[in-house]
Amino acid sequence: MNVTDSKHVVALCGSQRDGSHTRSALEQTLTAAETRGATTELLDLTELDLPVFDPDQTDAGDAETLRQRVQDADAVLLGTPMYHGSYSSTLKTALDYCGFDEFEETTVGLLVVSGGGFPTPALEHLRSVARALDAWVLPHQVAIPNAHDAFEGGQLTDESLLDRVETLGTDLVEYAGVESYPEAVPACTVSTAD
Ligand SMILES: Cc1cc2nc3c(=O)[nH]c(=O)nc-3n(C[C@H](O)[C@H](O)[C@H](O)COP(=O)(O)O)c2cc1C
Repeated sequence: MNVTDSKHVVALCGSQRDGSHTRSALEQTLTAAETRGATTELLDLTELDLPVFDPDQTDAGDAETLRQRVQDADAVLLGTPMYHGSYSSTLKTALDYCGFDEFEETTVGLLVVSGGGFPTPALEHLRSVARALDAWVLPHQVAIPNAHDAFEGGQLTDESLLDRVETLGTDLVEYAGVESYPEAVPACTVSTAD
């Protein structure tokens, strides 16, 4: 975890495609986080050597680099294209190299892009995975359907989608470290009298 005052947001991009719409949307999300004072990093998994995960080779390739970058984050943004009704194997491989050390009590935001209709299943699958890692997953999430018509020059054109992306970037900064608050109020101290 980052020890300076400013929050650090790290994004993992689950697409390896040149001109990836997922990457474009993540960049726009991180730009929104930066406007809230955060430092950001977009981890392009294409640039890391991450073989398909083998439990007997947990330090393979650039696994340690990946884990360190994720541990440095106050909030993590997971972005993926929808592949066959779920999220990509690229992102799955990266997540399998990580564990509680990287994600427990870490604020996580989700963004999914699809070629067709609403990519809800991939969002739900990612939410389950983040839950299994004991992350704090933001309620606000972004789904970008019909991606091939949604961008121009790497920028989202639809105002409402742009608004959702900007809210995600803002929430990642606002709720980074959310596990430490609000103060828990024991149920027995709450009075309904008066
Ligand atoms: C292997 C594969 C499976 C896909 N499966 C789906 C799918 O189930 N539903 C869908 O709407 N789009 C599907 N798509 C389309 C991608 O989600 C879409 O092209 C997306 O924009 C790719 O993200 P990218 O631009 O970040 O690479 C699939 C694409 C590939 C390559």
